Amino acid sequence: MDSDFTIQNLIPKSLVQEFGSPLYVYDEEIIKRQCQTITTALKNSFDQGAKVLYACKANTNPNILKIMRSNGVHGIDAVSPNEVEVALQAGFLNNQITYTANYMTKEEIEYAIQKGVILNVGEIDTLKKLIAYQAEVIIRLNLDIGIGHHNHVNTGGNDSKFGINLMWKEQLSEIQKQGVKIIGLHQHMGSKIMKKDHDSYLLGIEKLFQAATQELELPYLKYIDIGGGFGVKYQDYEETSDLNLLFSEIKKLYDKYFINVKPMLFIEPGRYLIAESGYLLCTVQAINTNKSRTFVGTDSGMHHLIRPALYESYHEIINSEQKQVEPRIVTVCGNICESGDLLGVDRNLKVEVSDVLVIQNGGAYGFSMSSNYNLRERPAEILVRDSKPYIIRKRETLDYLLANVVIL
Ligand SMILES: Cc1ncc(COP(=O)(O)O)c(C=O)c1O
Repeated sequence: MDSDFTIQNLIPKSLVQEFGSPLYVYDEEIIKRQCQTITTALKNSFDQGAKVLYACKANTNPNILKIMRSNGVHGIDAVSPNEVEVALQAGFLNNQITYTANYMTKEEIEYAIQKGVILNVGEIDTLKKLIAYQAEVIIRLNLDIGIGHHNHVNTGGNDSKFGINLMWKEQLSEIQKQGVKIIGLHQHMGSKIMKKDHDSYLLGIEKLFQAATQELELPYLKYIDIGGGFGVKYQDYEETSDLNLLFSEIKKLYDKYFINVKPMLFIEPGRYLIAESGYLLCTVQAINTNKSRTFVGTDSGMHHLIRPALYESYHEIINSEQKQVEPRIVTVCGNICESGDLLGVDRNLKVEVSDVLVIQNGGAYGFSMSSNYNLRERPAEILVRDSKPYIIRKRETLDYLLANVVIL
């Protein structure tokens, strides 16, 4: 970095002075860019025959959903009733929302049916419950292929809890006979699919198309949902997919298998749309050296960004300012009472107490996976629009954290 880091010309230290530290900051221009890139690439191959649904679990701030909606994103993939509500509040229509909860309760099933969203079901037992409602559903298949940057985000294959295996195809046909209409097939193989994963990814897509056209009887087929998972670069050496190329390969497979019936193709990106727009700003409080390591201790941690602790994920961490001190190998950590509360291990940083660090790619699975562990507040969220900062979520307070506590 040759100059101080800015977000649309805003200086991180000034943002922290104004809104407090730590702080999530999103750059609207990057969200728009990502929406445009993926919708255009999809259109280049499928024209009107495919739509983007934002997997909003990546970041559920309603303002973010609204930006997506104004920038070509057709709908939302929601995984809980609350996500459905947020999608509706952001202006998406009921029939633009897929509801992909797993192991749904009766209340959730009834909620989804009453709201008229598109149910996506991944267990035979749940489908059986839907006979009583003569429901229309997409079914989530597990076609034995899982991809992902970590086992926890590998959502296909024998070790994954998600999806129905084709060994149950007799039951699927029986359930259809009893009045459940299968209007779509879905598969999500995993998260952070990069260029190196293309062969297995395309194999999985082909298996899905084969299931739709050769393995299952689907007289009501309207949708084919190939899930999300499109990766972004977290480290320099990583290679992302060329989406134009990837979608054109998918289109070739689509044309090979869907000769008569032409179901609408859905993709459900989460990370791709929002990861790169987000930064977690935090302030260095103390630097603590022991016999083997130097720890740079910040006022944030695993409660605000759990990906490093949960998946050993790498997030680039930079000092927001150019420094005139010697670089050193340090481990950036948080203030949570857990030894695993490390945000970046063995990083080469020029750093001093009071510096503001910028943790990059924090837009996806950052705030949305955060917690109040150690009874700490979540940070505020700021949207930078036209080079101006807007609060889109206030910092939590102790009153907020204790609001549901009943003192005996
Ligand atoms: C069903 C489903 N669709 C879409 C996604 C979004 O994945 P990503 O953020 O990698 O695009 C997920 C993520 O876990 C998912 O489970």
